[in-house]
Amino acid sequence: MQTIKVAMPKGRIYKKASALFREAGLPIPLDVDESRKLVIPLPGAGMEFILAKPVDVPTYVEYGVADIGIVGKDVLMEENRDVYELLDLGIARCRMSVIGLPDWQPGIQQRVATKYPNVASQYFREQGQQVEVIKLNGSIELAPLIGLADRIVDMVETGQTLRENGLVEMERIFDITSRLVANRVSYRMKNAEIQGVCDVLERVVRSSIKD
Ligand code: PRP
Repeated sequence: MQTIKVAMPKGRIYKKASALFREAGLPIPLDVDESRKLVIPLPGAGMEFILAKPVDVPTYVEYGVADIGIVGKDVLMEENRDVYELLDLGIARCRMSVIGLPDWQPGIQQRVATKYPNVASQYFREQGQQVEVIKLNGSIELAPLIGLADRIVDMVETGQTLRENGLVEMERIFDITSRLVANRVSYRMKNAEIQGVCDVLERVVRSSIKD
């Protein structure tokens, strides 16, 4: 059996993804969760984890330095990398939305702040709205509060960040979950191994949908 290189996102998706792997019977030692190592061999599972910044996961997979990866639909939509989407894991469920202050009115100068400039530009183009998109890297909710932008495009999970900052969700753009993706060449060359991982994960995903 060939080792599968897995690009795992550091941060909030990691815990949910590693729990799913364990439920699927793939032995991922618990100490991996707390480790600061970036490349972690997991011989028991026939894998090697590459711990990446979530937004970079599709890049590692497209270039084939990782065979498969776990990545949010938000990142897939924004990065538009050439990867093969194998499975909706149903974890890290949230949504991409347009957000603003409750008294927002369409103005002449419309500015939208976001971490997702491609997603936002495409959405407003499709809506026939002319907006200036401003790229930020975090704490996006600040932008309408301090007058950098009229609205933002961002992820909403619990809605707590919006509520605590007096913002409202105006439109939902799409729903987000994490996906299992594969490099197209790896999927052919390591088909048995990759399909095996996909199948055991799919069984867990299906049984958790039934619960
Ligand atoms: C994300 C997102 C929102 C928040 C939504 O930010 O950008 O700010 O989570 O979650 P909620 O609906 O449960 O409040 P993240 O914590 O990733 O940090 P960031 O501001 O640095 O992007």
